[in-house]
Amino acid sequence: MAEPILTVRGLVKHYPLTRGIVFRKQIGAVKAVDGVDLDLFAAGTLGIVGESGCGKSTLARMLVHLERPTAGTIHYRGEDITGLSGRALTRVRRNIQMVFQDPYTSLNPRMTVGDIVGEPFEIHPDAAPRGDRRRKVRELLDVVGLDPDYVNRYPHQFSGGQRQRIGIARGLALNPEVLVADEPVSALDVSVQAQVVNLLAALQREFSLSLVFISHDLSIVRHISDRVGVMYLGRVVELGSDAEIYDHPTHPYTQALLSAVPVPDPGAREHRERILLGGDVPSPTRIPSGCRFRTRCWKARERCALEVPLLEVPAEYRIWEGAARHPSACHFAEELQVVPSGRPGEGPREGGGSEGAEGPGEPGTG
Ligand SMILES: Nc1ncnc2c1ncn2[C@@H]1O[C@H](COP(=O)(O)OP(=O)(O)O)[C@@H](O)[C@H]1O
Ligand code: SF4
Ligand SMILES: [Mg+2]
Repeated sequence: MAEPILTVRGLVKHYPLTRGIVFRKQIGAVKAVDGVDLDLFAAGTLGIVGESGCGKSTLARMLVHLERPTAGTIHYRGEDITGLSGRALTRVRRNIQMVFQDPYTSLNPRMTVGDIVGEPFEIHPDAAPRGDRRRKVRELLDVVGLDPDYVNRYPHQFSGGQRQRIGIARGLALNPEVLVADEPVSALDVSVQAQVVNLLAALQREFSLSLVFISHDLSIVRHISDRVGVMYLGRVVELGSDAEIYDHPTHPYTQALLSAVPVPDPGAREHRERILLGGDVPSPTRIPSGCRFRTRCWKARERCALEVPLLEVPAEYRIWEGAARHPSACHFAEELQVVPSGRPGEGPREGGGSEGAEGPGEPGTG
């Protein structure tokens, strides 16, 4: 078994809610991330999935130290890096890089592609000697499937998929061990999503990257991840291998999410369970007592309002070796095969006819 490269325990990010202009008074908190436990294994891909607003981006920003946790710890190769600052933080940050969601706003429109991809070398000059940077940048463009001769062009001369390749090249510039990709394909056309996911999967293998892949889309996450964490209202509620989560989910929330994933096979579609979730996601300023999912859970009972379910292997599954034996934060965790065929959708497919726009050809003009 591989060693965990990142270990996250009890991670919390609360944003204070204040009122008043002169005398600011805290009247509450947005509990964006509210106690997350995770391990990222070396050279593995951990998928994080959950509805919009459940805290995925906040978690991502804490992992790469763009934001400081309110509580909890992050260990990198066994070293507590939670409170690092100054040179010590710069040293660690180099190894944990991020790819952002929106390739349209995350690239500075006034910088050339060469300057964007080479920007990390300004902060970490020892990663590439000045005279060697141009060559490195060209090499990075080549690695992500872009023509190295594009170094002097500007972001607006590229399509969305190509821009995300530029973002990935920048994420790889310092040769990091960990790459955190926050919804890297959500802003892209469906037809080009698969190409970017496949690129990330290929790079993960080639460079033995430890990848955190975040998405609200269950089928995309399965396509690339070997382990998956399902988030709800600031917490991970179920965690396991892709087969455990997709074929043997035990948490009612995971089961409901899976039941809404499109199934391509009409036979399987007919036999699968549809679970409709009632109500809306509660506000992260008012998290329900006990189990935070209880206001939408069809299995909720009295105990659910009183006791917080911990993310652990449910007692009844601890004694045997089946695929239901994985952590699930539910008092009444129970295996339920939601998708009979075993595969929730085929994952993203390569988009037909869009190769020309996305391959390393001429960049678009829009
Ligand atoms: N800087 C911030 N200040 C206050 N609230 C925030 C801030 N950033 C995120 N939030 C809130 O935290 C919750 C989680 O947000 P986010 O991490 O972006 O979720 P996701 O990426 O899963 O959509 C949301 O309710 C969001 O409005
Ligand atoms: S603990 Fe109760 S409310 Fe929460 S998911 Fe399980 S059954 Fe539903
Ligand atoms: Mg987000």
